[in-house]
Formats: sequence, C-alpha cells, structure tokens
Amino acid sequence: MITIKNQEEIEKMRKAGKLAAQLLNYIEPFVKEGVSTLYLNDLCEEFTQKHGGISAPLNYNGFPKSICTSINNVVCHGIPSEKDILKDGDIVNVDVTVILDGYHGDTSRTFMIGNVDEKTKNLVNRTKNALYRGIDAVKPGKYLYEVGKTIEKYISKFGYSIVRDYGGHGIGKSFHEDPHVFHHFTKDNKIRLREGMIFTIEPMINMGKSYAVETSLTDGWTVTTVDGSISAQFEHTILVTSKGTEILTKLPNSKL
Ligand code: MF3
Ligand code: CO
Ligand code: CO
Repeated sequence: MITIKNQEEIEKMRKAGKLAAQLLNYIEPFVKEGVSTLYLNDLCEEFTQKHGGISAPLNYNGFPKSICTSINNVVCHGIPSEKDILKDGDIVNVDVTVILDGYHGDTSRTFMIGNVDEKTKNLVNRTKNALYRGIDAVKPGKYLYEVGKTIEKYISKFGYSIVRDYGGHGIGKSFHEDPHVFHHFTKDNKIRLREGMIFTIEPMINMGKSYAVETSLTDGWTVTTVDGSISAQFEHTILVTSKGTEILTKLPNSKL
C-alpha cells in the first residue's frame, strides 16, 4: 500500500531529509585517499547523534554499521571496515539514512578519490545525470514507470547496464515502504503518481554490459557486479508535489 503523507508527516520528512543531506555534506571532505571506510562510518555516527538523529542502517535486518560504503565493483550495501582504505583512482558511494523524530531521510553520492580515469568519471557523472532525469520525470498524474523509462533511455546509449535487483522505495516512518521504484522500464511500475507520495530514486549503473549482481556469501550484505565491472550510484528522497517534485535530501543552495 502506497501512503500519501499529510502535512505534518511531510514537515518531519523535510527535517529528516535535511539532516541526511547535511550529513553527506559534512562527510564529503573526509572522503579522501588513505582513510578507512570505518573512519567515515564513525564520523557519520557521531554527527548523526550530535544532531538528535539515529543511523537507520545500524542493526537494520542485522546490518552491522551506520552507513553503507560501496567501493568500485561494489554496487551497494558495502560494510564500512578498517581494512578498506580508499586509494587514488577509487570511486566510493556513501549512502546515509537517518531517522529524525521517527521519520527517515535517505541519500547517497558517489565520490571520486584523487585521479580517476576518464571512463570512470563519465560513469559517475552520467549516473548522477540519470538520477536527476529520473526525478524530472516525476509529475502527479503520470505513471511511476516514467522514472525507469527516462533513466533507461538516457543510460542505454552509453553501453552501461542498470541494476535490476535493487531499486528505490517508498520511505517514511519505515526505511523501506511501497512502492518499489525500478530504474529500468517495466509495467510493474504502472502506478499513478499522486501529490504527497514520498519515495527514493537511487539508480545503480554498472559500466559493463551485465546488470547481474551477487551478494557476498561471507558477510551476507556486500553486493558486487558479477562481471567485476565498476558501479556508481546516486540517491535522493523526493516528495511528489502539485508541480512535480521537492527533493527532500537537497539543501537549498546545493548543486547536489
Ligand atoms: N540506504 C540503502 C537504501 O538506499 C539501504 C541500506 S540497508 C542497509 O535503500 F541495511 F544496508 F543499511
Ligand atoms: Co534508499
Ligand atoms: Co540509501
């Protein structure tokens, strides 16, 4: 069941979204060569607590850390670790979700470490473009599948592939609510968009031809590309408004 949020809930979602956006901005200067992803995790946990929030990933279905850090061929749900030291040329997605006053804000960006090769830069920039094109496709009265259709139309010309096994999601009091948001075109998303719906858009784009991914048998979380190709992702939490959308995880004066 897809719920329509009322004004009071929307106001709380705005606050949660804002804190998540502030958290990503806060962590950005620390995402540099030589730091471990566990260090980033610990800074995020501290910042979130200091601002009265809770890190939603921590203990979510048994997830062991406060944020997800997904390096290179890791598609999503990477677990921060002391052993994962960022190095020159890496890309890393930092995915943060905070709970504030009972409501969730969920956002992620892929950061580039030092000198990243041209092909990889293109993948990252085009994945970001795909997110914003997907957001622009959201209008009340249209179908949700316009999101996937728009992203697929844009991404297919580069020879990349769109991950199918994970998608965006409704969000509110719960981390993951209906609807499931596909980033490729499918009639499964023939759902009429209505003012007051809140969901994430979070395309995961693989540089290779295969959209296939697999989950680590060792930790049960880390999702990687099957062909070893690198993968990028950007995510925002958005509200459907009468005009189109309001990006709840975007600060007023920010480009991202
Ligand atoms: N933040 C992720 C999302 O965008 C979900 C992470 S679930 C976790 O939906 F358990 F891995 F943290
Ligand atoms: Co999400
Ligand atoms: Co997320």
